[in-house]
Amino acid sequence: MTRGNPKSHGGKSPPAKANSNKSTSSPETKVDSQVKEQWLSENILNRVGDRLGIPRTQISRMPDTVRKLVEELGSTESIIDKYGADKSALIQILLEIQRVNRWLPASALLVVSERLGVPLSQVYRVATFYKAFSLTPRGRHLVTVCMGTACHVRGSPRLLDRVVDALKIKPGESSQDMRFTLETVNCLGCCALGPVMVIDGEYHSNPSAKELEELLATRD
Ligand code: FES
Repeated sequence: MTRGNPKSHGGKSPPAKANSNKSTSSPETKVDSQVKEQWLSENILNRVGDRLGIPRTQISRMPDTVRKLVEELGSTESIIDKYGADKSALIQILLEIQRVNRWLPASALLVVSERLGVPLSQVYRVATFYKAFSLTPRGRHLVTVCMGTACHVRGSPRLLDRVVDALKIKPGESSQDMRFTLETVNCLGCCALGPVMVIDGEYHSNPSAKELEELLATRD
């Protein structure tokens, strides 16, 4: 299979834009994006069908699955293109896919492997080595409680209990409505603030149950 080229994913290349100077709301651009989406769907159907040994007609009857794959893989293809399908940019590409999707879908790992010419086992190793990556869907808001030594002696187990009570999920879990994901880490690099937690990148030092409730209530 040809590596690093969209042609390797089921035949034709995506159609070139008819007029790249048009605004995004122009009819021409709208048609372009519809055609591109159709091209992506076709390629994804072929790719998934080949990989899983499922007849294409059967996959076509799963519109929700196909729509999800089109969304996931559409953004994945754009990110890979941005880095010129350069295998030395593997970690940056995975980080960006993680940022866009909030996790690394298996379909995206497969495409990264194919396009970069990197064995899937290697992509998987990188994806499971770094804590920044998740192979399961994450909620819209990431709550991280530090359980490192300095925070532990200053009371992080009690802080974690308060967070678990407020979110009704355990570390490593996401809420059913995918609003929150709770994780723990071993040090956030600000031990003097301990016990410390982070919500969407904001650091909070030992919030009380009431403060916690207020902090979480502002996240939709
Ligand atoms: S141990 Fe918690 S920030 Fe270092």
